[in-house]
Amino acid sequence: MSTLHIVDHPMVQHKLSMMRCKETTTKDFRQLLNEISLLMGYEVTRDLPLDPIGIETPLEKMTGYEISGKKVAIVPILRAGLGMVDGLVSLMPVAKIGHIGLYRDEETHNPVFYYCKMPPDIDQRFVILVDPMLATGGSACDAIAKLKSYGCKNIRMMCLVSAPEGVSRVQETHPDVDIYTAALDRCLNENAYILPGLGDAGDRIFGTK
Ligand code: PRP
Ligand code: URA
Repeated sequence: MSTLHIVDHPMVQHKLSMMRCKETTTKDFRQLLNEISLLMGYEVTRDLPLDPIGIETPLEKMTGYEISGKKVAIVPILRAGLGMVDGLVSLMPVAKIGHIGLYRDEETHNPVFYYCKMPPDIDQRFVILVDPMLATGGSACDAIAKLKSYGCKNIRMMCLVSAPEGVSRVQETHPDVDIYTAALDRCLNENAYILPGLGDAGDRIFGTK
């Protein structure tokens, strides 16, 4: 079974509460999501392996460290996942970025696939799959299956707000994928929206409603 990591750092919780508030503007929502993504990126990458490297300071030689072997890829689920990319890129400027396009059918709530583009060496990379909302878990499960079809073996899912239903589904379908979330909310409503949640993340990021 994969591990659910709840990133309960006070800075993250403070910013998330501001995002949940219905009065928060598109500009502020986007900015806060950027900031939280950077902070969460710190936790998601906490145990990346290091290799020793010889370096020379202005005073003497020493052994420093660099991230070993596999490098990082950030993969947002379109659209809302795009809102988490810039924060992670400011932490990891050399990361490559893949994209997976999925939207939820309004009637069935099932994900509909429409786009995928990956870096050529994606199977060699440590993949951080990002989407602010983990609701039924359908989009996350399909996106992880797509990454696995490219040969990805080291995948972590980073979301902002999760529902218990979505967490269970990802853990059952992809027990090798750890989930990092800022909040585990109560449940889904009849339209498969997270309660209390923050509404439609894509619409709030892009100002489309
Ligand atoms: C939202 C969200 C996730 C998905 C979560 O995207 O960003 O991708 O729903 O729901 P699930 O866990 O039930 O699959 P949406 O389909 O609204 O598309 P958008 O990002 O383009 O707005
Ligand atoms: N997608 C969202 O943007 N919000 C939810 O609560 C559920 C799915």
